[in-house]
Amino acid sequence: MLWVKGTEGYAAATERFVVATHGIAFQDLHQSILQFIPTDPSHVLDVGSGIGRDAAALAEIGHTVVAVEPTREFLSVAQSLYGTSIEWIDDSLPLLQSLEDRKEGFDFVLASAVWHHIDQDERRIALTCIADLLRPTGIFALSLRHGPAGVGTHIFPTDGQETVQEAERVNLKPLLVLENQPSLVKGKKNVTWTRIVLQKVSESLPSDEA
Ligand SMILES: C[S@@+](CC[C@H](N)C(=O)[O-])C[C@H]1O[C@@H](n2cnc3c(N)ncnc32)[C@H](O)[C@@H]1O
Repeated sequence: MLWVKGTEGYAAATERFVVATHGIAFQDLHQSILQFIPTDPSHVLDVGSGIGRDAAALAEIGHTVVAVEPTREFLSVAQSLYGTSIEWIDDSLPLLQSLEDRKEGFDFVLASAVWHHIDQDERRIALTCIADLLRPTGIFALSLRHGPAGVGTHIFPTDGQETVQEAERVNLKPLLVLENQPSLVKGKKNVTWTRIVLQKVSESLPSDEA
Protein backbone atom coordinates (compact mmCIF):
# COMPACT_ATOMS: atom_id res chain seq x y z
CA MET A 1 0.00 0.00 0.00
CA LEU A 2 1.06 3.61 -0.58
CA TRP A 3 2.04 6.00 2.23
CA VAL A 4 -1.14 7.13 3.99
CA LYS A 5 -0.95 10.74 5.21
CA GLY A 6 -3.15 10.05 8.24
CA THR A 7 -0.48 7.74 9.68
CA GLU A 8 1.95 10.67 10.10
CA GLY A 9 3.46 10.66 13.60
CA TYR A 10 2.21 7.23 14.71
CA ALA A 11 5.03 4.84 13.82
CA ALA A 12 7.67 6.80 15.76
CA ALA A 13 5.44 6.73 18.86
CA THR A 14 4.46 3.05 18.72
CA GLU A 15 5.58 2.17 22.26
CA ARG A 16 3.79 5.16 23.76
CA PHE A 17 0.69 4.39 21.71
CA VAL A 18 0.62 0.78 22.91
CA VAL A 19 0.73 1.91 26.56
CA ALA A 20 -1.92 4.60 26.01
CA THR A 21 -4.25 2.21 24.18
CA HIS A 22 -3.99 -0.43 26.88
CA GLY A 23 -4.70 2.24 29.49
CA ILE A 24 -8.32 2.45 28.32
CA ALA A 25 -10.55 -0.63 28.30
CA PHE A 26 -12.83 -1.36 25.34
CA GLN A 27 -15.90 -1.49 27.63
CA ASP A 28 -15.14 1.94 29.12
CA LEU A 29 -14.25 3.66 25.85
CA HIS A 30 -17.29 2.35 24.02
CA GLN A 31 -19.76 2.35 26.92
CA SER A 32 -22.22 4.62 25.09
CA ILE A 33 -22.37 2.45 21.97
CA LEU A 34 -22.29 -1.04 23.50
CA GLN A 35 -26.07 -1.37 23.03
CA PHE A 36 -25.61 -1.09 19.23
CA ILE A 37 -23.04 -3.86 18.91
CA PRO A 38 -24.69 -7.04 17.60
CA THR A 39 -25.18 -9.76 20.19
CA ASP A 40 -25.38 -12.65 17.71
CA PRO A 41 -22.15 -13.71 15.99
CA SER A 42 -21.75 -11.20 13.15
CA HIS A 43 -19.37 -9.87 10.51
CA VAL A 44 -17.54 -6.89 11.96
CA LEU A 45 -15.07 -4.41 10.46
CA ASP A 46 -12.75 -2.24 12.56
CA VAL A 47 -11.31 0.57 10.41
CA GLY A 48 -8.14 2.27 11.64
CA SER A 49 -7.84 -0.47 14.20
CA GLY A 50 -4.58 0.75 15.77
CA ILE A 51 -2.96 -2.02 17.81
CA GLY A 52 -6.12 -4.11 17.73
CA ARG A 53 -7.64 -3.67 21.20
CA ASP A 54 -11.18 -3.18 19.87
CA ALA A 55 -10.90 -5.80 17.13
CA ALA A 56 -9.75 -8.29 19.78
CA ALA A 57 -12.62 -7.40 22.13
CA LEU A 58 -15.13 -7.84 19.30
CA ALA A 59 -13.62 -11.19 18.30
CA GLU A 60 -13.68 -12.25 21.95
CA ILE A 61 -17.48 -11.90 22.06
CA GLY A 62 -17.88 -14.15 19.04
CA HIS A 63 -17.74 -11.92 15.99
CA THR A 64 -15.81 -12.60 12.78
CA VAL A 65 -13.57 -9.55 12.64
CA VAL A 66 -11.68 -7.84 9.82
CA ALA A 67 -9.31 -5.11 11.02
CA VAL A 68 -7.90 -2.50 8.62
CA GLU A 69 -4.89 -0.44 9.68
CA PRO A 70 -2.40 1.54 7.54
CA THR A 71 0.37 2.05 10.15
CA ARG A 72 2.41 -1.12 9.61
CA GLU A 73 4.09 -0.92 13.02
CA PHE A 74 0.62 -1.02 14.65
CA LEU A 75 -0.52 -3.85 12.43
CA SER A 76 2.53 -5.84 13.41
CA VAL A 77 1.92 -5.24 17.17
CA ALA A 78 -1.74 -6.20 16.71
CA GLN A 79 -0.84 -9.43 14.94
CA SER A 80 1.64 -10.42 17.60
CA LEU A 81 -0.73 -9.55 20.47
CA TYR A 82 -3.98 -10.94 19.11
CA GLY A 83 -2.90 -13.45 16.45
CA THR A 84 -4.80 -15.15 13.74
CA SER A 85 -8.38 -15.09 14.99
CA ILE A 86 -8.71 -11.69 13.28
CA GLU A 87 -8.09 -10.89 9.62
CA TRP A 88 -5.56 -8.03 9.61
CA ILE A 89 -5.38 -5.88 6.48
CA ASP A 90 -2.96 -3.12 5.52
CA ASP A 91 -5.34 -0.64 3.87
CA SER A 92 -6.91 2.78 4.48
CA LEU A 93 -9.85 5.11 4.13
CA PRO A 94 -11.35 6.56 2.12
CA LEU A 95 -11.54 3.70 -0.39
CA LEU A 96 -10.76 0.49 1.54
CA GLN A 97 -9.82 -1.04 -1.80
CA SER A 98 -8.97 -4.45 -0.34
CA LEU A 99 -12.59 -4.88 0.69
CA GLU A 100 -14.10 -4.10 -2.71
CA ASP A 101 -14.94 -7.74 -3.37
CA ARG A 102 -16.47 -8.50 0.06
CA LYS A 103 -19.91 -9.23 -1.26
CA GLU A 104 -21.11 -10.67 2.07
CA GLY A 105 -20.84 -7.25 3.74
CA PHE A 106 -20.61 -6.30 7.41
CA ASP A 107 -23.21 -6.07 10.19
CA PHE A 108 -21.16 -3.65 12.28
CA VAL A 109 -18.40 -1.22 11.29
CA LEU A 110 -16.34 0.71 13.84
CA ALA A 111 -14.13 3.73 13.06
CA SER A 112 -12.88 4.81 16.47
CA ALA A 113 -10.77 7.97 16.55
CA VAL A 114 -9.99 7.85 12.84
CA TRP A 115 -12.34 10.30 11.08
CA HIS A 116 -10.20 13.37 11.88
CA HIS A 117 -7.33 11.90 9.86
CA ILE A 118 -9.14 12.33 6.53
CA ASP A 119 -10.34 15.57 4.96
CA GLN A 120 -13.90 16.56 4.12
CA ASP A 121 -13.84 15.19 0.55
CA GLU A 122 -12.28 11.94 1.73
CA ARG A 123 -14.90 11.64 4.48
CA ARG A 124 -17.68 11.86 1.87
CA ILE A 125 -16.05 9.10 -0.15
CA ALA A 126 -15.44 7.05 3.00
CA LEU A 127 -19.10 7.28 4.03
CA THR A 128 -20.21 6.04 0.62
CA CYS A 129 -17.71 3.22 0.79
CA ILE A 130 -18.77 2.14 4.30
CA ALA A 131 -22.47 2.40 3.41
CA ASP A 132 -21.78 0.05 0.47
CA LEU A 133 -19.97 -2.39 2.76
CA LEU A 134 -22.81 -2.52 5.28
CA ARG A 135 -25.49 -5.16 5.13
CA PRO A 136 -29.11 -3.91 5.21
CA THR A 137 -29.81 -2.50 8.74
CA GLY A 138 -26.06 -2.71 9.50
CA ILE A 139 -24.55 -0.29 12.01
CA PHE A 140 -21.68 2.17 11.60
CA ALA A 141 -20.26 3.61 14.84
CA LEU A 142 -17.65 6.34 14.74
CA SER A 143 -16.06 8.85 17.07
CA LEU A 144 -14.91 12.33 16.10
CA ARG A 145 -11.95 13.89 17.89
CA HIS A 146 -11.92 17.65 18.55
CA GLY A 147 -8.83 19.47 19.79
CA PRO A 148 -5.14 19.84 19.07
CA ALA A 149 -3.25 17.01 17.37
CA GLY A 150 -2.05 14.12 19.48
CA VAL A 151 0.46 11.54 18.32
CA GLY A 152 -1.13 11.51 14.87
CA THR A 153 -0.36 14.91 13.38
CA HIS A 154 -2.22 14.89 10.04
CA ILE A 155 -5.65 16.03 11.22
CA PHE A 156 -8.70 18.00 10.11
CA PRO A 157 -11.61 19.55 12.02
CA THR A 158 -14.74 17.41 12.15
CA ASP A 159 -18.34 18.26 12.96
CA GLY A 160 -21.08 15.99 14.30
CA GLN A 161 -24.03 17.62 12.54
CA GLU A 162 -22.19 17.79 9.23
CA THR A 163 -21.28 14.11 9.56
CA VAL A 164 -24.92 13.17 10.18
CA GLN A 165 -26.06 15.20 7.15
CA GLU A 166 -23.46 13.58 4.92
CA ALA A 167 -24.41 10.17 6.26
CA GLU A 168 -28.08 10.72 5.43
CA ARG A 169 -27.04 11.37 1.82
CA VAL A 170 -25.92 7.71 1.64
CA ASN A 171 -28.93 6.32 3.54
CA LEU A 172 -27.29 6.07 6.93
CA LYS A 173 -29.70 7.36 9.56
CA PRO A 174 -28.54 8.52 13.00
CA LEU A 175 -29.41 6.37 16.01
CA LEU A 176 -27.18 8.22 18.46
CA VAL A 177 -25.27 11.51 18.47
CA LEU A 178 -23.41 12.43 21.67
CA GLU A 179 -21.52 15.71 21.48
CA ASN A 180 -18.88 17.10 23.80
CA GLN A 181 -17.80 13.85 25.42
CA PRO A 182 -14.69 14.09 27.61
CA SER A 183 -11.43 12.31 26.84
CA LEU A 184 -10.71 9.27 29.02
CA VAL A 185 -6.99 10.05 28.85
CA LYS A 186 -5.81 11.90 31.96
CA GLY A 187 -4.70 15.48 31.29
CA LYS A 188 -6.47 15.78 27.91
CA LYS A 189 -8.99 18.42 28.96
CA ASN A 190 -8.54 20.20 25.62
CA VAL A 191 -9.75 17.14 23.69
CA THR A 192 -13.45 16.29 23.35
CA TRP A 193 -15.28 13.69 21.31
CA THR A 194 -18.50 13.29 19.37
CA ARG A 195 -19.88 9.75 19.27
CA ILE A 196 -22.17 8.82 16.42
CA VAL A 197 -24.06 5.63 15.61
CA LEU A 198 -25.64 5.27 12.16
CA GLN A 199 -27.83 2.58 10.67
CA LYS A 200 -28.18 1.64 7.02
CA VAL A 201 -31.73 2.05 5.75
CA SER A 202 -33.06 0.93 2.37
CA GLU A 203 -33.24 3.59 -0.30
CA SER A 204 -36.74 5.07 -0.37
CA LEU A 205 -38.91 3.58 -3.11
CA PRO A 206 -40.72 5.93 -5.50
CA SER A 207 -44.22 6.72 -4.21
CA ASP A 208 -47.23 5.20 -6.08
CA GLU A 209 -48.90 8.60 -5.94
CA ALA A 210 -46.03 10.44 -7.63
C1 LIG B 1 -6.10 7.55 17.34
S1 LIG B 1 -5.72 6.08 16.49
C2 LIG B 1 -7.15 5.06 16.89
C3 LIG B 1 -6.82 3.59 16.85
C4 LIG B 1 -7.96 2.68 17.29
N1 LIG B 1 -9.12 2.81 16.45
C5 LIG B 1 -8.30 2.94 18.73
O1 LIG B 1 -9.38 3.50 19.01
O2 LIG B 1 -7.48 2.61 19.58
C6 LIG B 1 -6.02 6.48 14.79
C7 LIG B 1 -5.70 5.33 13.85
O3 LIG B 1 -6.16 5.66 12.54
C8 LIG B 1 -5.21 5.18 11.62
N2 LIG B 1 -5.39 5.93 10.36
C9 LIG B 1 -4.86 7.10 10.00
N3 LIG B 1 -5.25 7.43 8.75
C10 LIG B 1 -6.08 6.46 8.34
C11 LIG B 1 -6.80 6.22 7.13
N4 LIG B 1 -6.75 7.07 6.10
N5 LIG B 1 -7.54 5.09 7.04
C12 LIG B 1 -7.61 4.22 8.08
N6 LIG B 1 -6.94 4.39 9.24
C13 LIG B 1 -6.19 5.49 9.37
C14 LIG B 1 -3.88 5.40 12.31
O4 LIG B 1 -2.86 4.62 11.74
C15 LIG B 1 -4.23 5.01 13.75
O5 LIG B 1 -4.05 3.65 13.97
